[in-house]
Amino acid sequence: MEADRAQLLNQARRYLEDLRLFEGGEFIAPVLQQEEQGGDPAPALPSARDQAGELEAFRLQICECTRCPLGQTRQRFVFGDGDPGAGILFVGEGPGEEEDRQGLPFVGAAGQLLTKIIEAMKMQRSQVYICNAVKCRPPGNRTPAPEELAACAPYLERQIEIIQPRIICALGRTAAQALLQINSPLGALRGRLHQYRGIPVVVTYHPAALLRHAEWKRQTWEDVKWLRREYDGMEL
Ligand code: URA
Repeated sequence: MEADRAQLLNQARRYLEDLRLFEGGEFIAPVLQQEEQGGDPAPALPSARDQAGELEAFRLQICECTRCPLGQTRQRFVFGDGDPGAGILFVGEGPGEEEDRQGLPFVGAAGQLLTKIIEAMKMQRSQVYICNAVKCRPPGNRTPAPEELAACAPYLERQIEIIQPRIICALGRTAAQALLQINSPLGALRGRLHQYRGIPVVVTYHPAALLRHAEWKRQTWEDVKWLRREYDGMEL
């Protein structure tokens, strides 16, 4: 009886904590301080290359793209945003309505949650780079078709080549499958350190999925803490 009561109380406490994940400093900050003891992220090393210039030149080269039908229906081409020399690259699936309107990745509701996740990792959004597997909005926010992902793949590849992140976070199944070129379900992809051309890749839930399934936030938190630990442990 006592044990059941304790178990129920424990479940309720976990549930309340899950609801509060990524929603403000009061829960996240103390956890990070206790578990991570991490200071500020290592500053990006000054690069001999002009990564910002290279990225901008590449954007200009591809921003009128019509390699797939999404080029006909988009409002704005959503190249990516953030620090061109970032150590951490987040890759999502494709722009949604708000991203299509603004021409920037992750600026809608899922983007606000991604910003909170990044801040919970004790980083600023401006310190990472964020882009998508496809650069144009699939109508109605449907999953990009394999041909659309294939048409856009060289763009993501070139972005990664320019940015040279130290670690990549794939947000959701589509981004992970596009990057890793495998068909496994998300459950099989999470929890393993993958490689993209020698760069470690951590796979986690897409923030839009977290908006529908708050109960997945805790696993996401474990994934991004792990990513941050891997990143902190890397040789500069
Ligand atoms: N979802 C994505 O995958 N990317 C965005 O930029 C916005 C929402």
